[in-house]
Amino acid sequence: MFTGKDIARFANIETPFYYYDLELLQQTLNACARAADTYNFHVHYALKANFNPAVLNAVRNKGFGADCVSIGEVLRAIELGFDAGKVVFAGVGKSDREINQALDADIFCFNVESVQELEVINELAAAKGKRARVAIRINPNVDAHTHHNITTGLDENKFGVNSWDLPACVQTLKNAPNLEFVGIHFHIGSQIMNLDVYKNLCVRVNEFAGWFEDKGFIVKVLNVGGGLGIDYHNPNAQIPDFESYFRIFSEFLEVKPYQEVHFELGRALVGQCASLISRALYVKNGKKKNFVVLDAGMTELMRPALYQAYHQIENLSKTDAATALRYDIVGPICESTDCFAKEVELPETHRGDLFAIRSAGAYGEVMASGYNLRERAPSVFPE
Ligand code: LLP
Repeated sequence: MFTGKDIARFANIETPFYYYDLELLQQTLNACARAADTYNFHVHYALKANFNPAVLNAVRNKGFGADCVSIGEVLRAIELGFDAGKVVFAGVGKSDREINQALDADIFCFNVESVQELEVINELAAAKGKRARVAIRINPNVDAHTHHNITTGLDENKFGVNSWDLPACVQTLKNAPNLEFVGIHFHIGSQIMNLDVYKNLCVRVNEFAGWFEDKGFIVKVLNVGGGLGIDYHNPNAQIPDFESYFRIFSEFLEVKPYQEVHFELGRALVGQCASLISRALYVKNGKKKNFVVLDAGMTELMRPALYQAYHQIENLSKTDAATALRYDIVGPICESTDCFAKEVELPETHRGDLFAIRSAGAYGEVMASGYNLRERAPSVFPE
């Protein structure tokens, strides 16, 4: 929600830009930490959602760890003061160089996604005379009931080790003196709104943990990934229900006294803390359609083009809603998918009106591209 003062300030800043509400971010981090602490759960923030230094500083100050998917993210986290002992490194395609650099950084653990990757990490660690801590990312074949493009835990997805490859994993682990097995890892998808999905995940985690322990391994870490969704239709309702989320795991996971439960939340922590602020360049009133052409496009926020994602759009210059009209809100990029929303009802719009595209804190700025040789939109913070 923007005050008159915010809007007056925006009028003097060149658009488009990302505007961050750091107070809301702090409140969200506090709520998450409070709920997780109740159960002694550990949170590693998924940097991929947003690696803006201001966001990362707030997350680090809260004491969370970092979940990374490239050496770039690993090094960014460490550079910004995250404890290397709280950094995990996941991803289906870690290169040798990335593995070597992560070994040098002494990160907490690699979340390993294939038998071959286990062999490679063992070899590279041996060459350095080190032991690499590893967790096996298992594909549990649990449906996350979210958008197809952000589902990761089904047999058809590329992520994790499938159950039929686990015996080969165990074999490799037993013959790999430079690997230290620490636990198992899961991540079934993103923007999950139906919390029952997590009950199904817990059942599978319990089964797999038992399976590994039967084979003689100590499963110290149960890492259940992230995925908790946010309400894109109510950007002002704001703080996700962390309490209900963590309660499910405390009820349905069988946690032994020596085990730790780890989470990798991204979107739920940062999704509501930023808006993309843009300006109407042109209004084209056609016979069948009215278009508002903004100066922000899919190069700044790709989610609508990629996942048909909904983001609430507000005309900040017309808060007293005189005449309402239906518009397609589009960007300037030379692609037909460069459209933020179709047929949305908004106050009659004019060239120069300021717009806010809400709930853009997660997977917004980080997914920006240089297509059409666009300049990168800056980030702006409260004064
Ligand atoms: N852990 C792993 C292994 C992941 O792959 C992800 C997200 C997360 C944690 C964090 O998930 P979150 O809590 O943020 O849902 N670009 C898409 C989302 C891609 C998510 C990729 N993995 C979007 O804009 O919806």
